[in-house]
Amino acid sequence: MSKKLFIQTLGCAMNVRDSEHIIAELKDKENYELTQNMGEADLILINTCSVREKPVHKLFSEVGAFEKAKKKGAKIGVCGCTASHLGDEIFKKAPYVDFVLGARNVSKITTAVNTPKFVSTDINYDESDYAFGEFRGSAFKSYINISIGCDKKCTYCIVPHTRGDEISIPLNLLLNEAKKATSRGAKELFLLGQNVNNYGKRFSSSHEKVDFSDLLNRLSEIEGVERIRFTSPHPLHMDDKFLEVFANNPKICKSMHMPLQSGNTKVLREMKRGYTKEWFLNRALKLRELCPDVSISTDIIVAFPGESDSEFEDTMDVLEKVRFEQVFSFKYSPRPLTPAAEFKNQVDEKVASERLTRLQSRHNEILDEIVAKQNGKIFDVYFEELRANGGVAGRSFNNFLVQVQGSEELLGKTLKVRVNNPKRMVLYGELLEKI
Ligand code: 5AD
Ligand code: SF4
Repeated sequence: MSKKLFIQTLGCAMNVRDSEHIIAELKDKENYELTQNMGEADLILINTCSVREKPVHKLFSEVGAFEKAKKKGAKIGVCGCTASHLGDEIFKKAPYVDFVLGARNVSKITTAVNTPKFVSTDINYDESDYAFGEFRGSAFKSYINISIGCDKKCTYCIVPHTRGDEISIPLNLLLNEAKKATSRGAKELFLLGQNVNNYGKRFSSSHEKVDFSDLLNRLSEIEGVERIRFTSPHPLHMDDKFLEVFANNPKICKSMHMPLQSGNTKVLREMKRGYTKEWFLNRALKLRELCPDVSISTDIIVAFPGESDSEFEDTMDVLEKVRFEQVFSFKYSPRPLTPAAEFKNQVDEKVASERLTRLQSRHNEILDEIVAKQNGKIFDVYFEELRANGGVAGRSFNNFLVQVQGSEELLGKTLKVRVNNPKRMVLYGELLEKI
């Protein structure tokens, strides 16, 4: 009889894909089946995030709840970035945890489940050519990791300490994975990496010279691939070749994530981002020029140590000039092992909250204007998700979430929709095509 696996995934899309790899390994090699019911699981996994302090706290409250409610004899494993960072300290705080498996040790999951108190947190373990089994949470889009780790070492960021140095996954593995995905019917590829547009910088063994633009072109030639998305690119590596391939290749979805972090050049230098305010603006505005329909999203950290009021105004200025379609904004959170956590001039919590509120309020005003302009527009929507009250939702080519009334027949199809009721989170509309 098969055993039951319950898995909770926190954090980013990279973690979502790592969880799919874990599930595939446990299904293929250990006869596990997924369950959504934690109480009946034989194995409970939590795939953790450590990028800010909040998700780390969440880990301990969640595993505590698992321990109370789990079936007798069920095992608990902690995976992901907090596993990498805390290692066997997790046992001290939560002695009932059975194993700890770091974010870059996913391929050892079968050993972990069979070894009492197993800990593996090697951040430079090379899994770049490991052939994971196939498991996909979505039938319509396929996540593909194209690189692991990050070489950037931004001074606020814990990720280089949880996912190690950057290493690209060989091109032939990626092409094969994409072909497999399309043969299962997925029309969209979603490429993942900490720094995707640095693809090809380092492989674990000799490899033909290839960069991210080449990879995009090669993937788009595969039959059945209709849409390609990716996250996250780094603004520093947005050279002209990349922006032109992005704008001109008709299979690349016209939404770009451009993590700004700060709009002030001095703060950017202290963050070690490698670009200036002017470079960022130049790239974002060039992108809007090459690709008028593009939607641009960003990540912003307010109150980085030493950020003055006038330096924060530069971030507000970039917000005005770029008019991002989506902003993920955070108060700076000091993280262990990072240089910025040691900086002396940490910003007062009240000032940080005020800046975050101001940024978010202004972004919402801009967003309301952007959203209102979508009324009456016609989008090609790739339907992926059933929602409450007979709604079916999908993404436009430029990444707006669009919803119509309909049924599951729409899923997996790309259809024309006219927007007639645009809201901040969802553009509601009517289907213009019969299926
Ligand atoms: N504090 C606040 N936000 C952070 N991020 C990364 N590290 C920190 C930190 N120490 C944000 C960045 C990154 C996103 C994934 O999380 O904006 O792009
Ligand atoms: Fe993803 Fe970064 Fe969180 Fe790790 S720390 S799960 S890489 S967001």
